[in-house]
Parts: sequence; structure tokens; C-alpha cells
Amino acid sequence: YRTAAVIPAAGRGVRLGPGAPKALRALNGTPMLIHAVRAMAASRHVSLVVVVAPPDGAPEVRNLLAEHALPERTDFVVVPGGETRQESVKRGLDALPDSISAVLVHDAARPLVPVDTVDSVVDAVREGAPAVVPALPLADTVKEVEPGAPGAPEPVLSTPVRARLRAVQTPQGFDRDTLVRAHEQVAVSGEGATDDAGMVEQLGAPVVVVPGHEEAFKVTRPLDLVLAEAVLARRRA
Ligand code: CTP
Ligand code: MG
Repeated sequence: YRTAAVIPAAGRGVRLGPGAPKALRALNGTPMLIHAVRAMAASRHVSLVVVVAPPDGAPEVRNLLAEHALPERTDFVVVPGGETRQESVKRGLDALPDSISAVLVHDAARPLVPVDTVDSVVDAVREGAPAVVPALPLADTVKEVEPGAPGAPEPVLSTPVRARLRAVQTPQGFDRDTLVRAHEQVAVSGEGATDDAGMVEQLGAPVVVVPGHEEAFKVTRPLDLVLAEAVLARRRA
């Protein structure tokens, strides 16, 4: 029962501001992507890591992986990404060898996920769940609005009961065939799916949530870089 991790890392990181592609930015001196690869390779279940690099950044990413010490038991493949996260994940899935039966999809932008979270996702997939997502209860109340012009007041449509909501993280874990089928059969409009499990839901297959972890937060805006570096500093202390 072999498990691979696909790491979409092809985004530009527009919300983080100008600079190198987000996955290649440094956190305490080491590229975010390398932290994310290590987080996946730390799980003894993961035998292959597929990195989906920025479209013209595959050679650079191969060099980075060669430069940084990574566990011997883990193989690495680098493929170029696409225009949307969904396309990037698809390219990663296309690169999987036949021997892989379970797949984790993990954002390069979640470099600090603890190995226990990774393992609990893998365990749930091995126990038979076709799709597993780590998630946390929300601190903020959430409102659905009618989106308006940026900055303009937006009418509120509803307030979902907070206790029933979960903020989802990665790695999301899947039975390989289920995820591949979702990518082949589910049509997503606009900027593509931001959540792989959402595509599996549309297929009609069951998706379950397991506890996520605060340190699996996504580095999205500049303040998140400050938090990520503080978490790393605390780990080293
Ligand atoms: N991603 C990708 N290919 C894309 C877009 C996103 O592989 N075309 C990856 C990102 O590299 C990231 C993950 O998907 O690891 C989550 O996306 P997000 O946090 O939105 O990253 P970016 O798209 O890079 O950021 P932004 O939306 O601010 O530009
Ligand atoms: Mg994005």
C-alpha cells in the first residue's frame, strides 16, 4: 500500500506581495517548499513526493531538492504546474507511478504541518476512507454575503452556525482512484477548485474530517510569514 504526496507549489503568491514565487520564498533561510517537502517526507508512510513547480521553475526546484538533505527512503519527482491550483494538482497526479494507491495533496504554502497530522490523515485513508481532510473549528463567526465592489458595504445573506463549520487544511488524503476520477469527471468553473476534497464531494463519494493543527496554517499574507518564522524559532528553542 504505497502513499505519495503531491505538493502543488506553482502559485505566484499574489496576496503575499511582490517577490519570488511564494513556495520559493525563505522561512528562516530555507525555502518554504523545502519545509513542506520535509513535512511530507517525515511521515514513514510517504514513499514518493511529487513537487509541482512554478511553470518555468522545475529545474530550479530540482536543484533545491538536490541541495537540501532529505530522507533516503523518499523518492522525488518534479513536474511543472499549471494556471490554477486544480490544474497543478492534476499534473502531479499524472506523474504518479502505477504502484501508488493512496495520495496526499499538500499545499507548499503550509510548510509547518506536524507529522502527527500527516499520519492521522494517512491512517484514515488506510482504514478505508476515500477522502480525508484535516480541519479545525473556527474562531471567527462566518457570514455569507452578496459580494459587491471592493470596499463597498455588502448585504449579509446568512450566518451559518459556527459550531458546525470547519476550516480545512492540507494534507488532504485520498484513495488514488477516487481523486483521479474526481479530476476527470468533475467540472469546476472559474479559477478552479481550491479544495481537492470538494471535487470528491461532487462525485458523491464520502469525505471525512479529522482534527487539523494550528501549525498547518496557510502562509497567505505577509503577517503569516511573521507567524511561520516565530513557530520555527520556537521549535528550535
Ligand atoms: N498553486 C499551484 N498552482 C497554481 C496556483 C496555486 O500549485 N496555479 C499552489 C500554491 O503554490 C500553494 C497552493 O496551491 O502551495 C495553495 O494556493 P495559494 O495559497 O492560493 O497560493 P498562491 O496561489 O501562490 O497565492 P495567491 O492566491 O495569493 O496568488
Ligand atoms: Mg491562489
